[in-house]
Amino acid sequence: MRVGVLTGGRDCPGLNAVVRAVVRKGVQHYGDEFVGFVDGWRGPLDGETVPLDIPAVRGTLPRGGTILGTSRTHPLDHPEGVRRIRENLAKHEVEALITIGGRDTLGTAARLADEYGLPIVGVPKTIDNDLSGTDCTIGYDTAVGVATGAIDRLHTTAESHKRVLVVEVMGGDTGWIALRSGLAGGANVILIPEQPFDVEQVCAWVTSRFRASYAPIVVVADGAYPKDGSMRLGPGSGVRLSGVGEWLAREIEHRSGKEARTTVLGHLQRGGSPSPFDRWLATRFGLHAIDAVHEQDFGTMVALRGTDVVRVPIAEATARVKRVDPKLYEEVGVFFG
Ligand code: F6P
Repeated sequence: MRVGVLTGGRDCPGLNAVVRAVVRKGVQHYGDEFVGFVDGWRGPLDGETVPLDIPAVRGTLPRGGTILGTSRTHPLDHPEGVRRIRENLAKHEVEALITIGGRDTLGTAARLADEYGLPIVGVPKTIDNDLSGTDCTIGYDTAVGVATGAIDRLHTTAESHKRVLVVEVMGGDTGWIALRSGLAGGANVILIPEQPFDVEQVCAWVTSRFRASYAPIVVVADGAYPKDGSMRLGPGSGVRLSGVGEWLAREIEHRSGKEARTTVLGHLQRGGSPSPFDRWLATRFGLHAIDAVHEQDFGTMVALRGTDVVRVPIAEATARVKRVDPKLYEEVGVFFG
């Protein structure tokens, strides 16, 4: 069989490990040939490809980023998008397409499979872990590891200077990275988009922490925001960086009189080598995705349920954002302050 592979949307650690597993099992077990489509959906839209075979994936298991490139191109925004994709798949004699992506890329995959009958199998990736239908996405564990390591380091400098250290982590619309790294790193306050925060309450927690002679660490997800709508960012706001972390540190200083600093971890969480867990998960997802192709189980996405890899409809996985359950957040609240 000739199988196309693409990686779309924002990158994350573990993408190459999926591609490698797909190609290794496809070639060695099924006798497949592969076509690498470059830069996400732009590849099949413009017909741009790279050779994808065993030598191309050699040494890529620990490598971050994606050897196929990525983009946030939306083929359904192009009037001729579906026709162009069909033509390019036919031109390269591609009989199935493995699409590795997050909500956006797989949302498109679901429509192309369900509405237009394209032979697609999905693989879930994103450091945000916000895709439904799977316990975990690839990239999430690595990002949590980077953030936890940073929080560990920030504890010591916060203690030396008796300062508040605010750590802004990624997560988009969800607080999964903040929640898990904050817990693992022993943060004193964790703020997530699912639970708009009260700045006065945050200051009360910070002050109580100082009373107990500890310098507090506040972990804030980049999508978190205050309840009262008081956050003003951008020109004239006095905020040096562009996010909630910097805004919050200024508010804490102003309201509590304690010196505060911000560390924005940013793309450090998305770059570099995948963790052992992500290599394991990405490899298993890749092995199961090529099986799904050979069973012609199109329109499905491989997913982790407990320790099993299962398949779910891509449309179901992308229909709603997987948010942090209020009960999970309540559970960690015992450590605040
Ligand atoms: O969706 C992944 C993510 O890393 C989010 O956690 C973050 O908010 C966003 O992407 C940052 O995107 P960009 O690469 O456009 O800065």
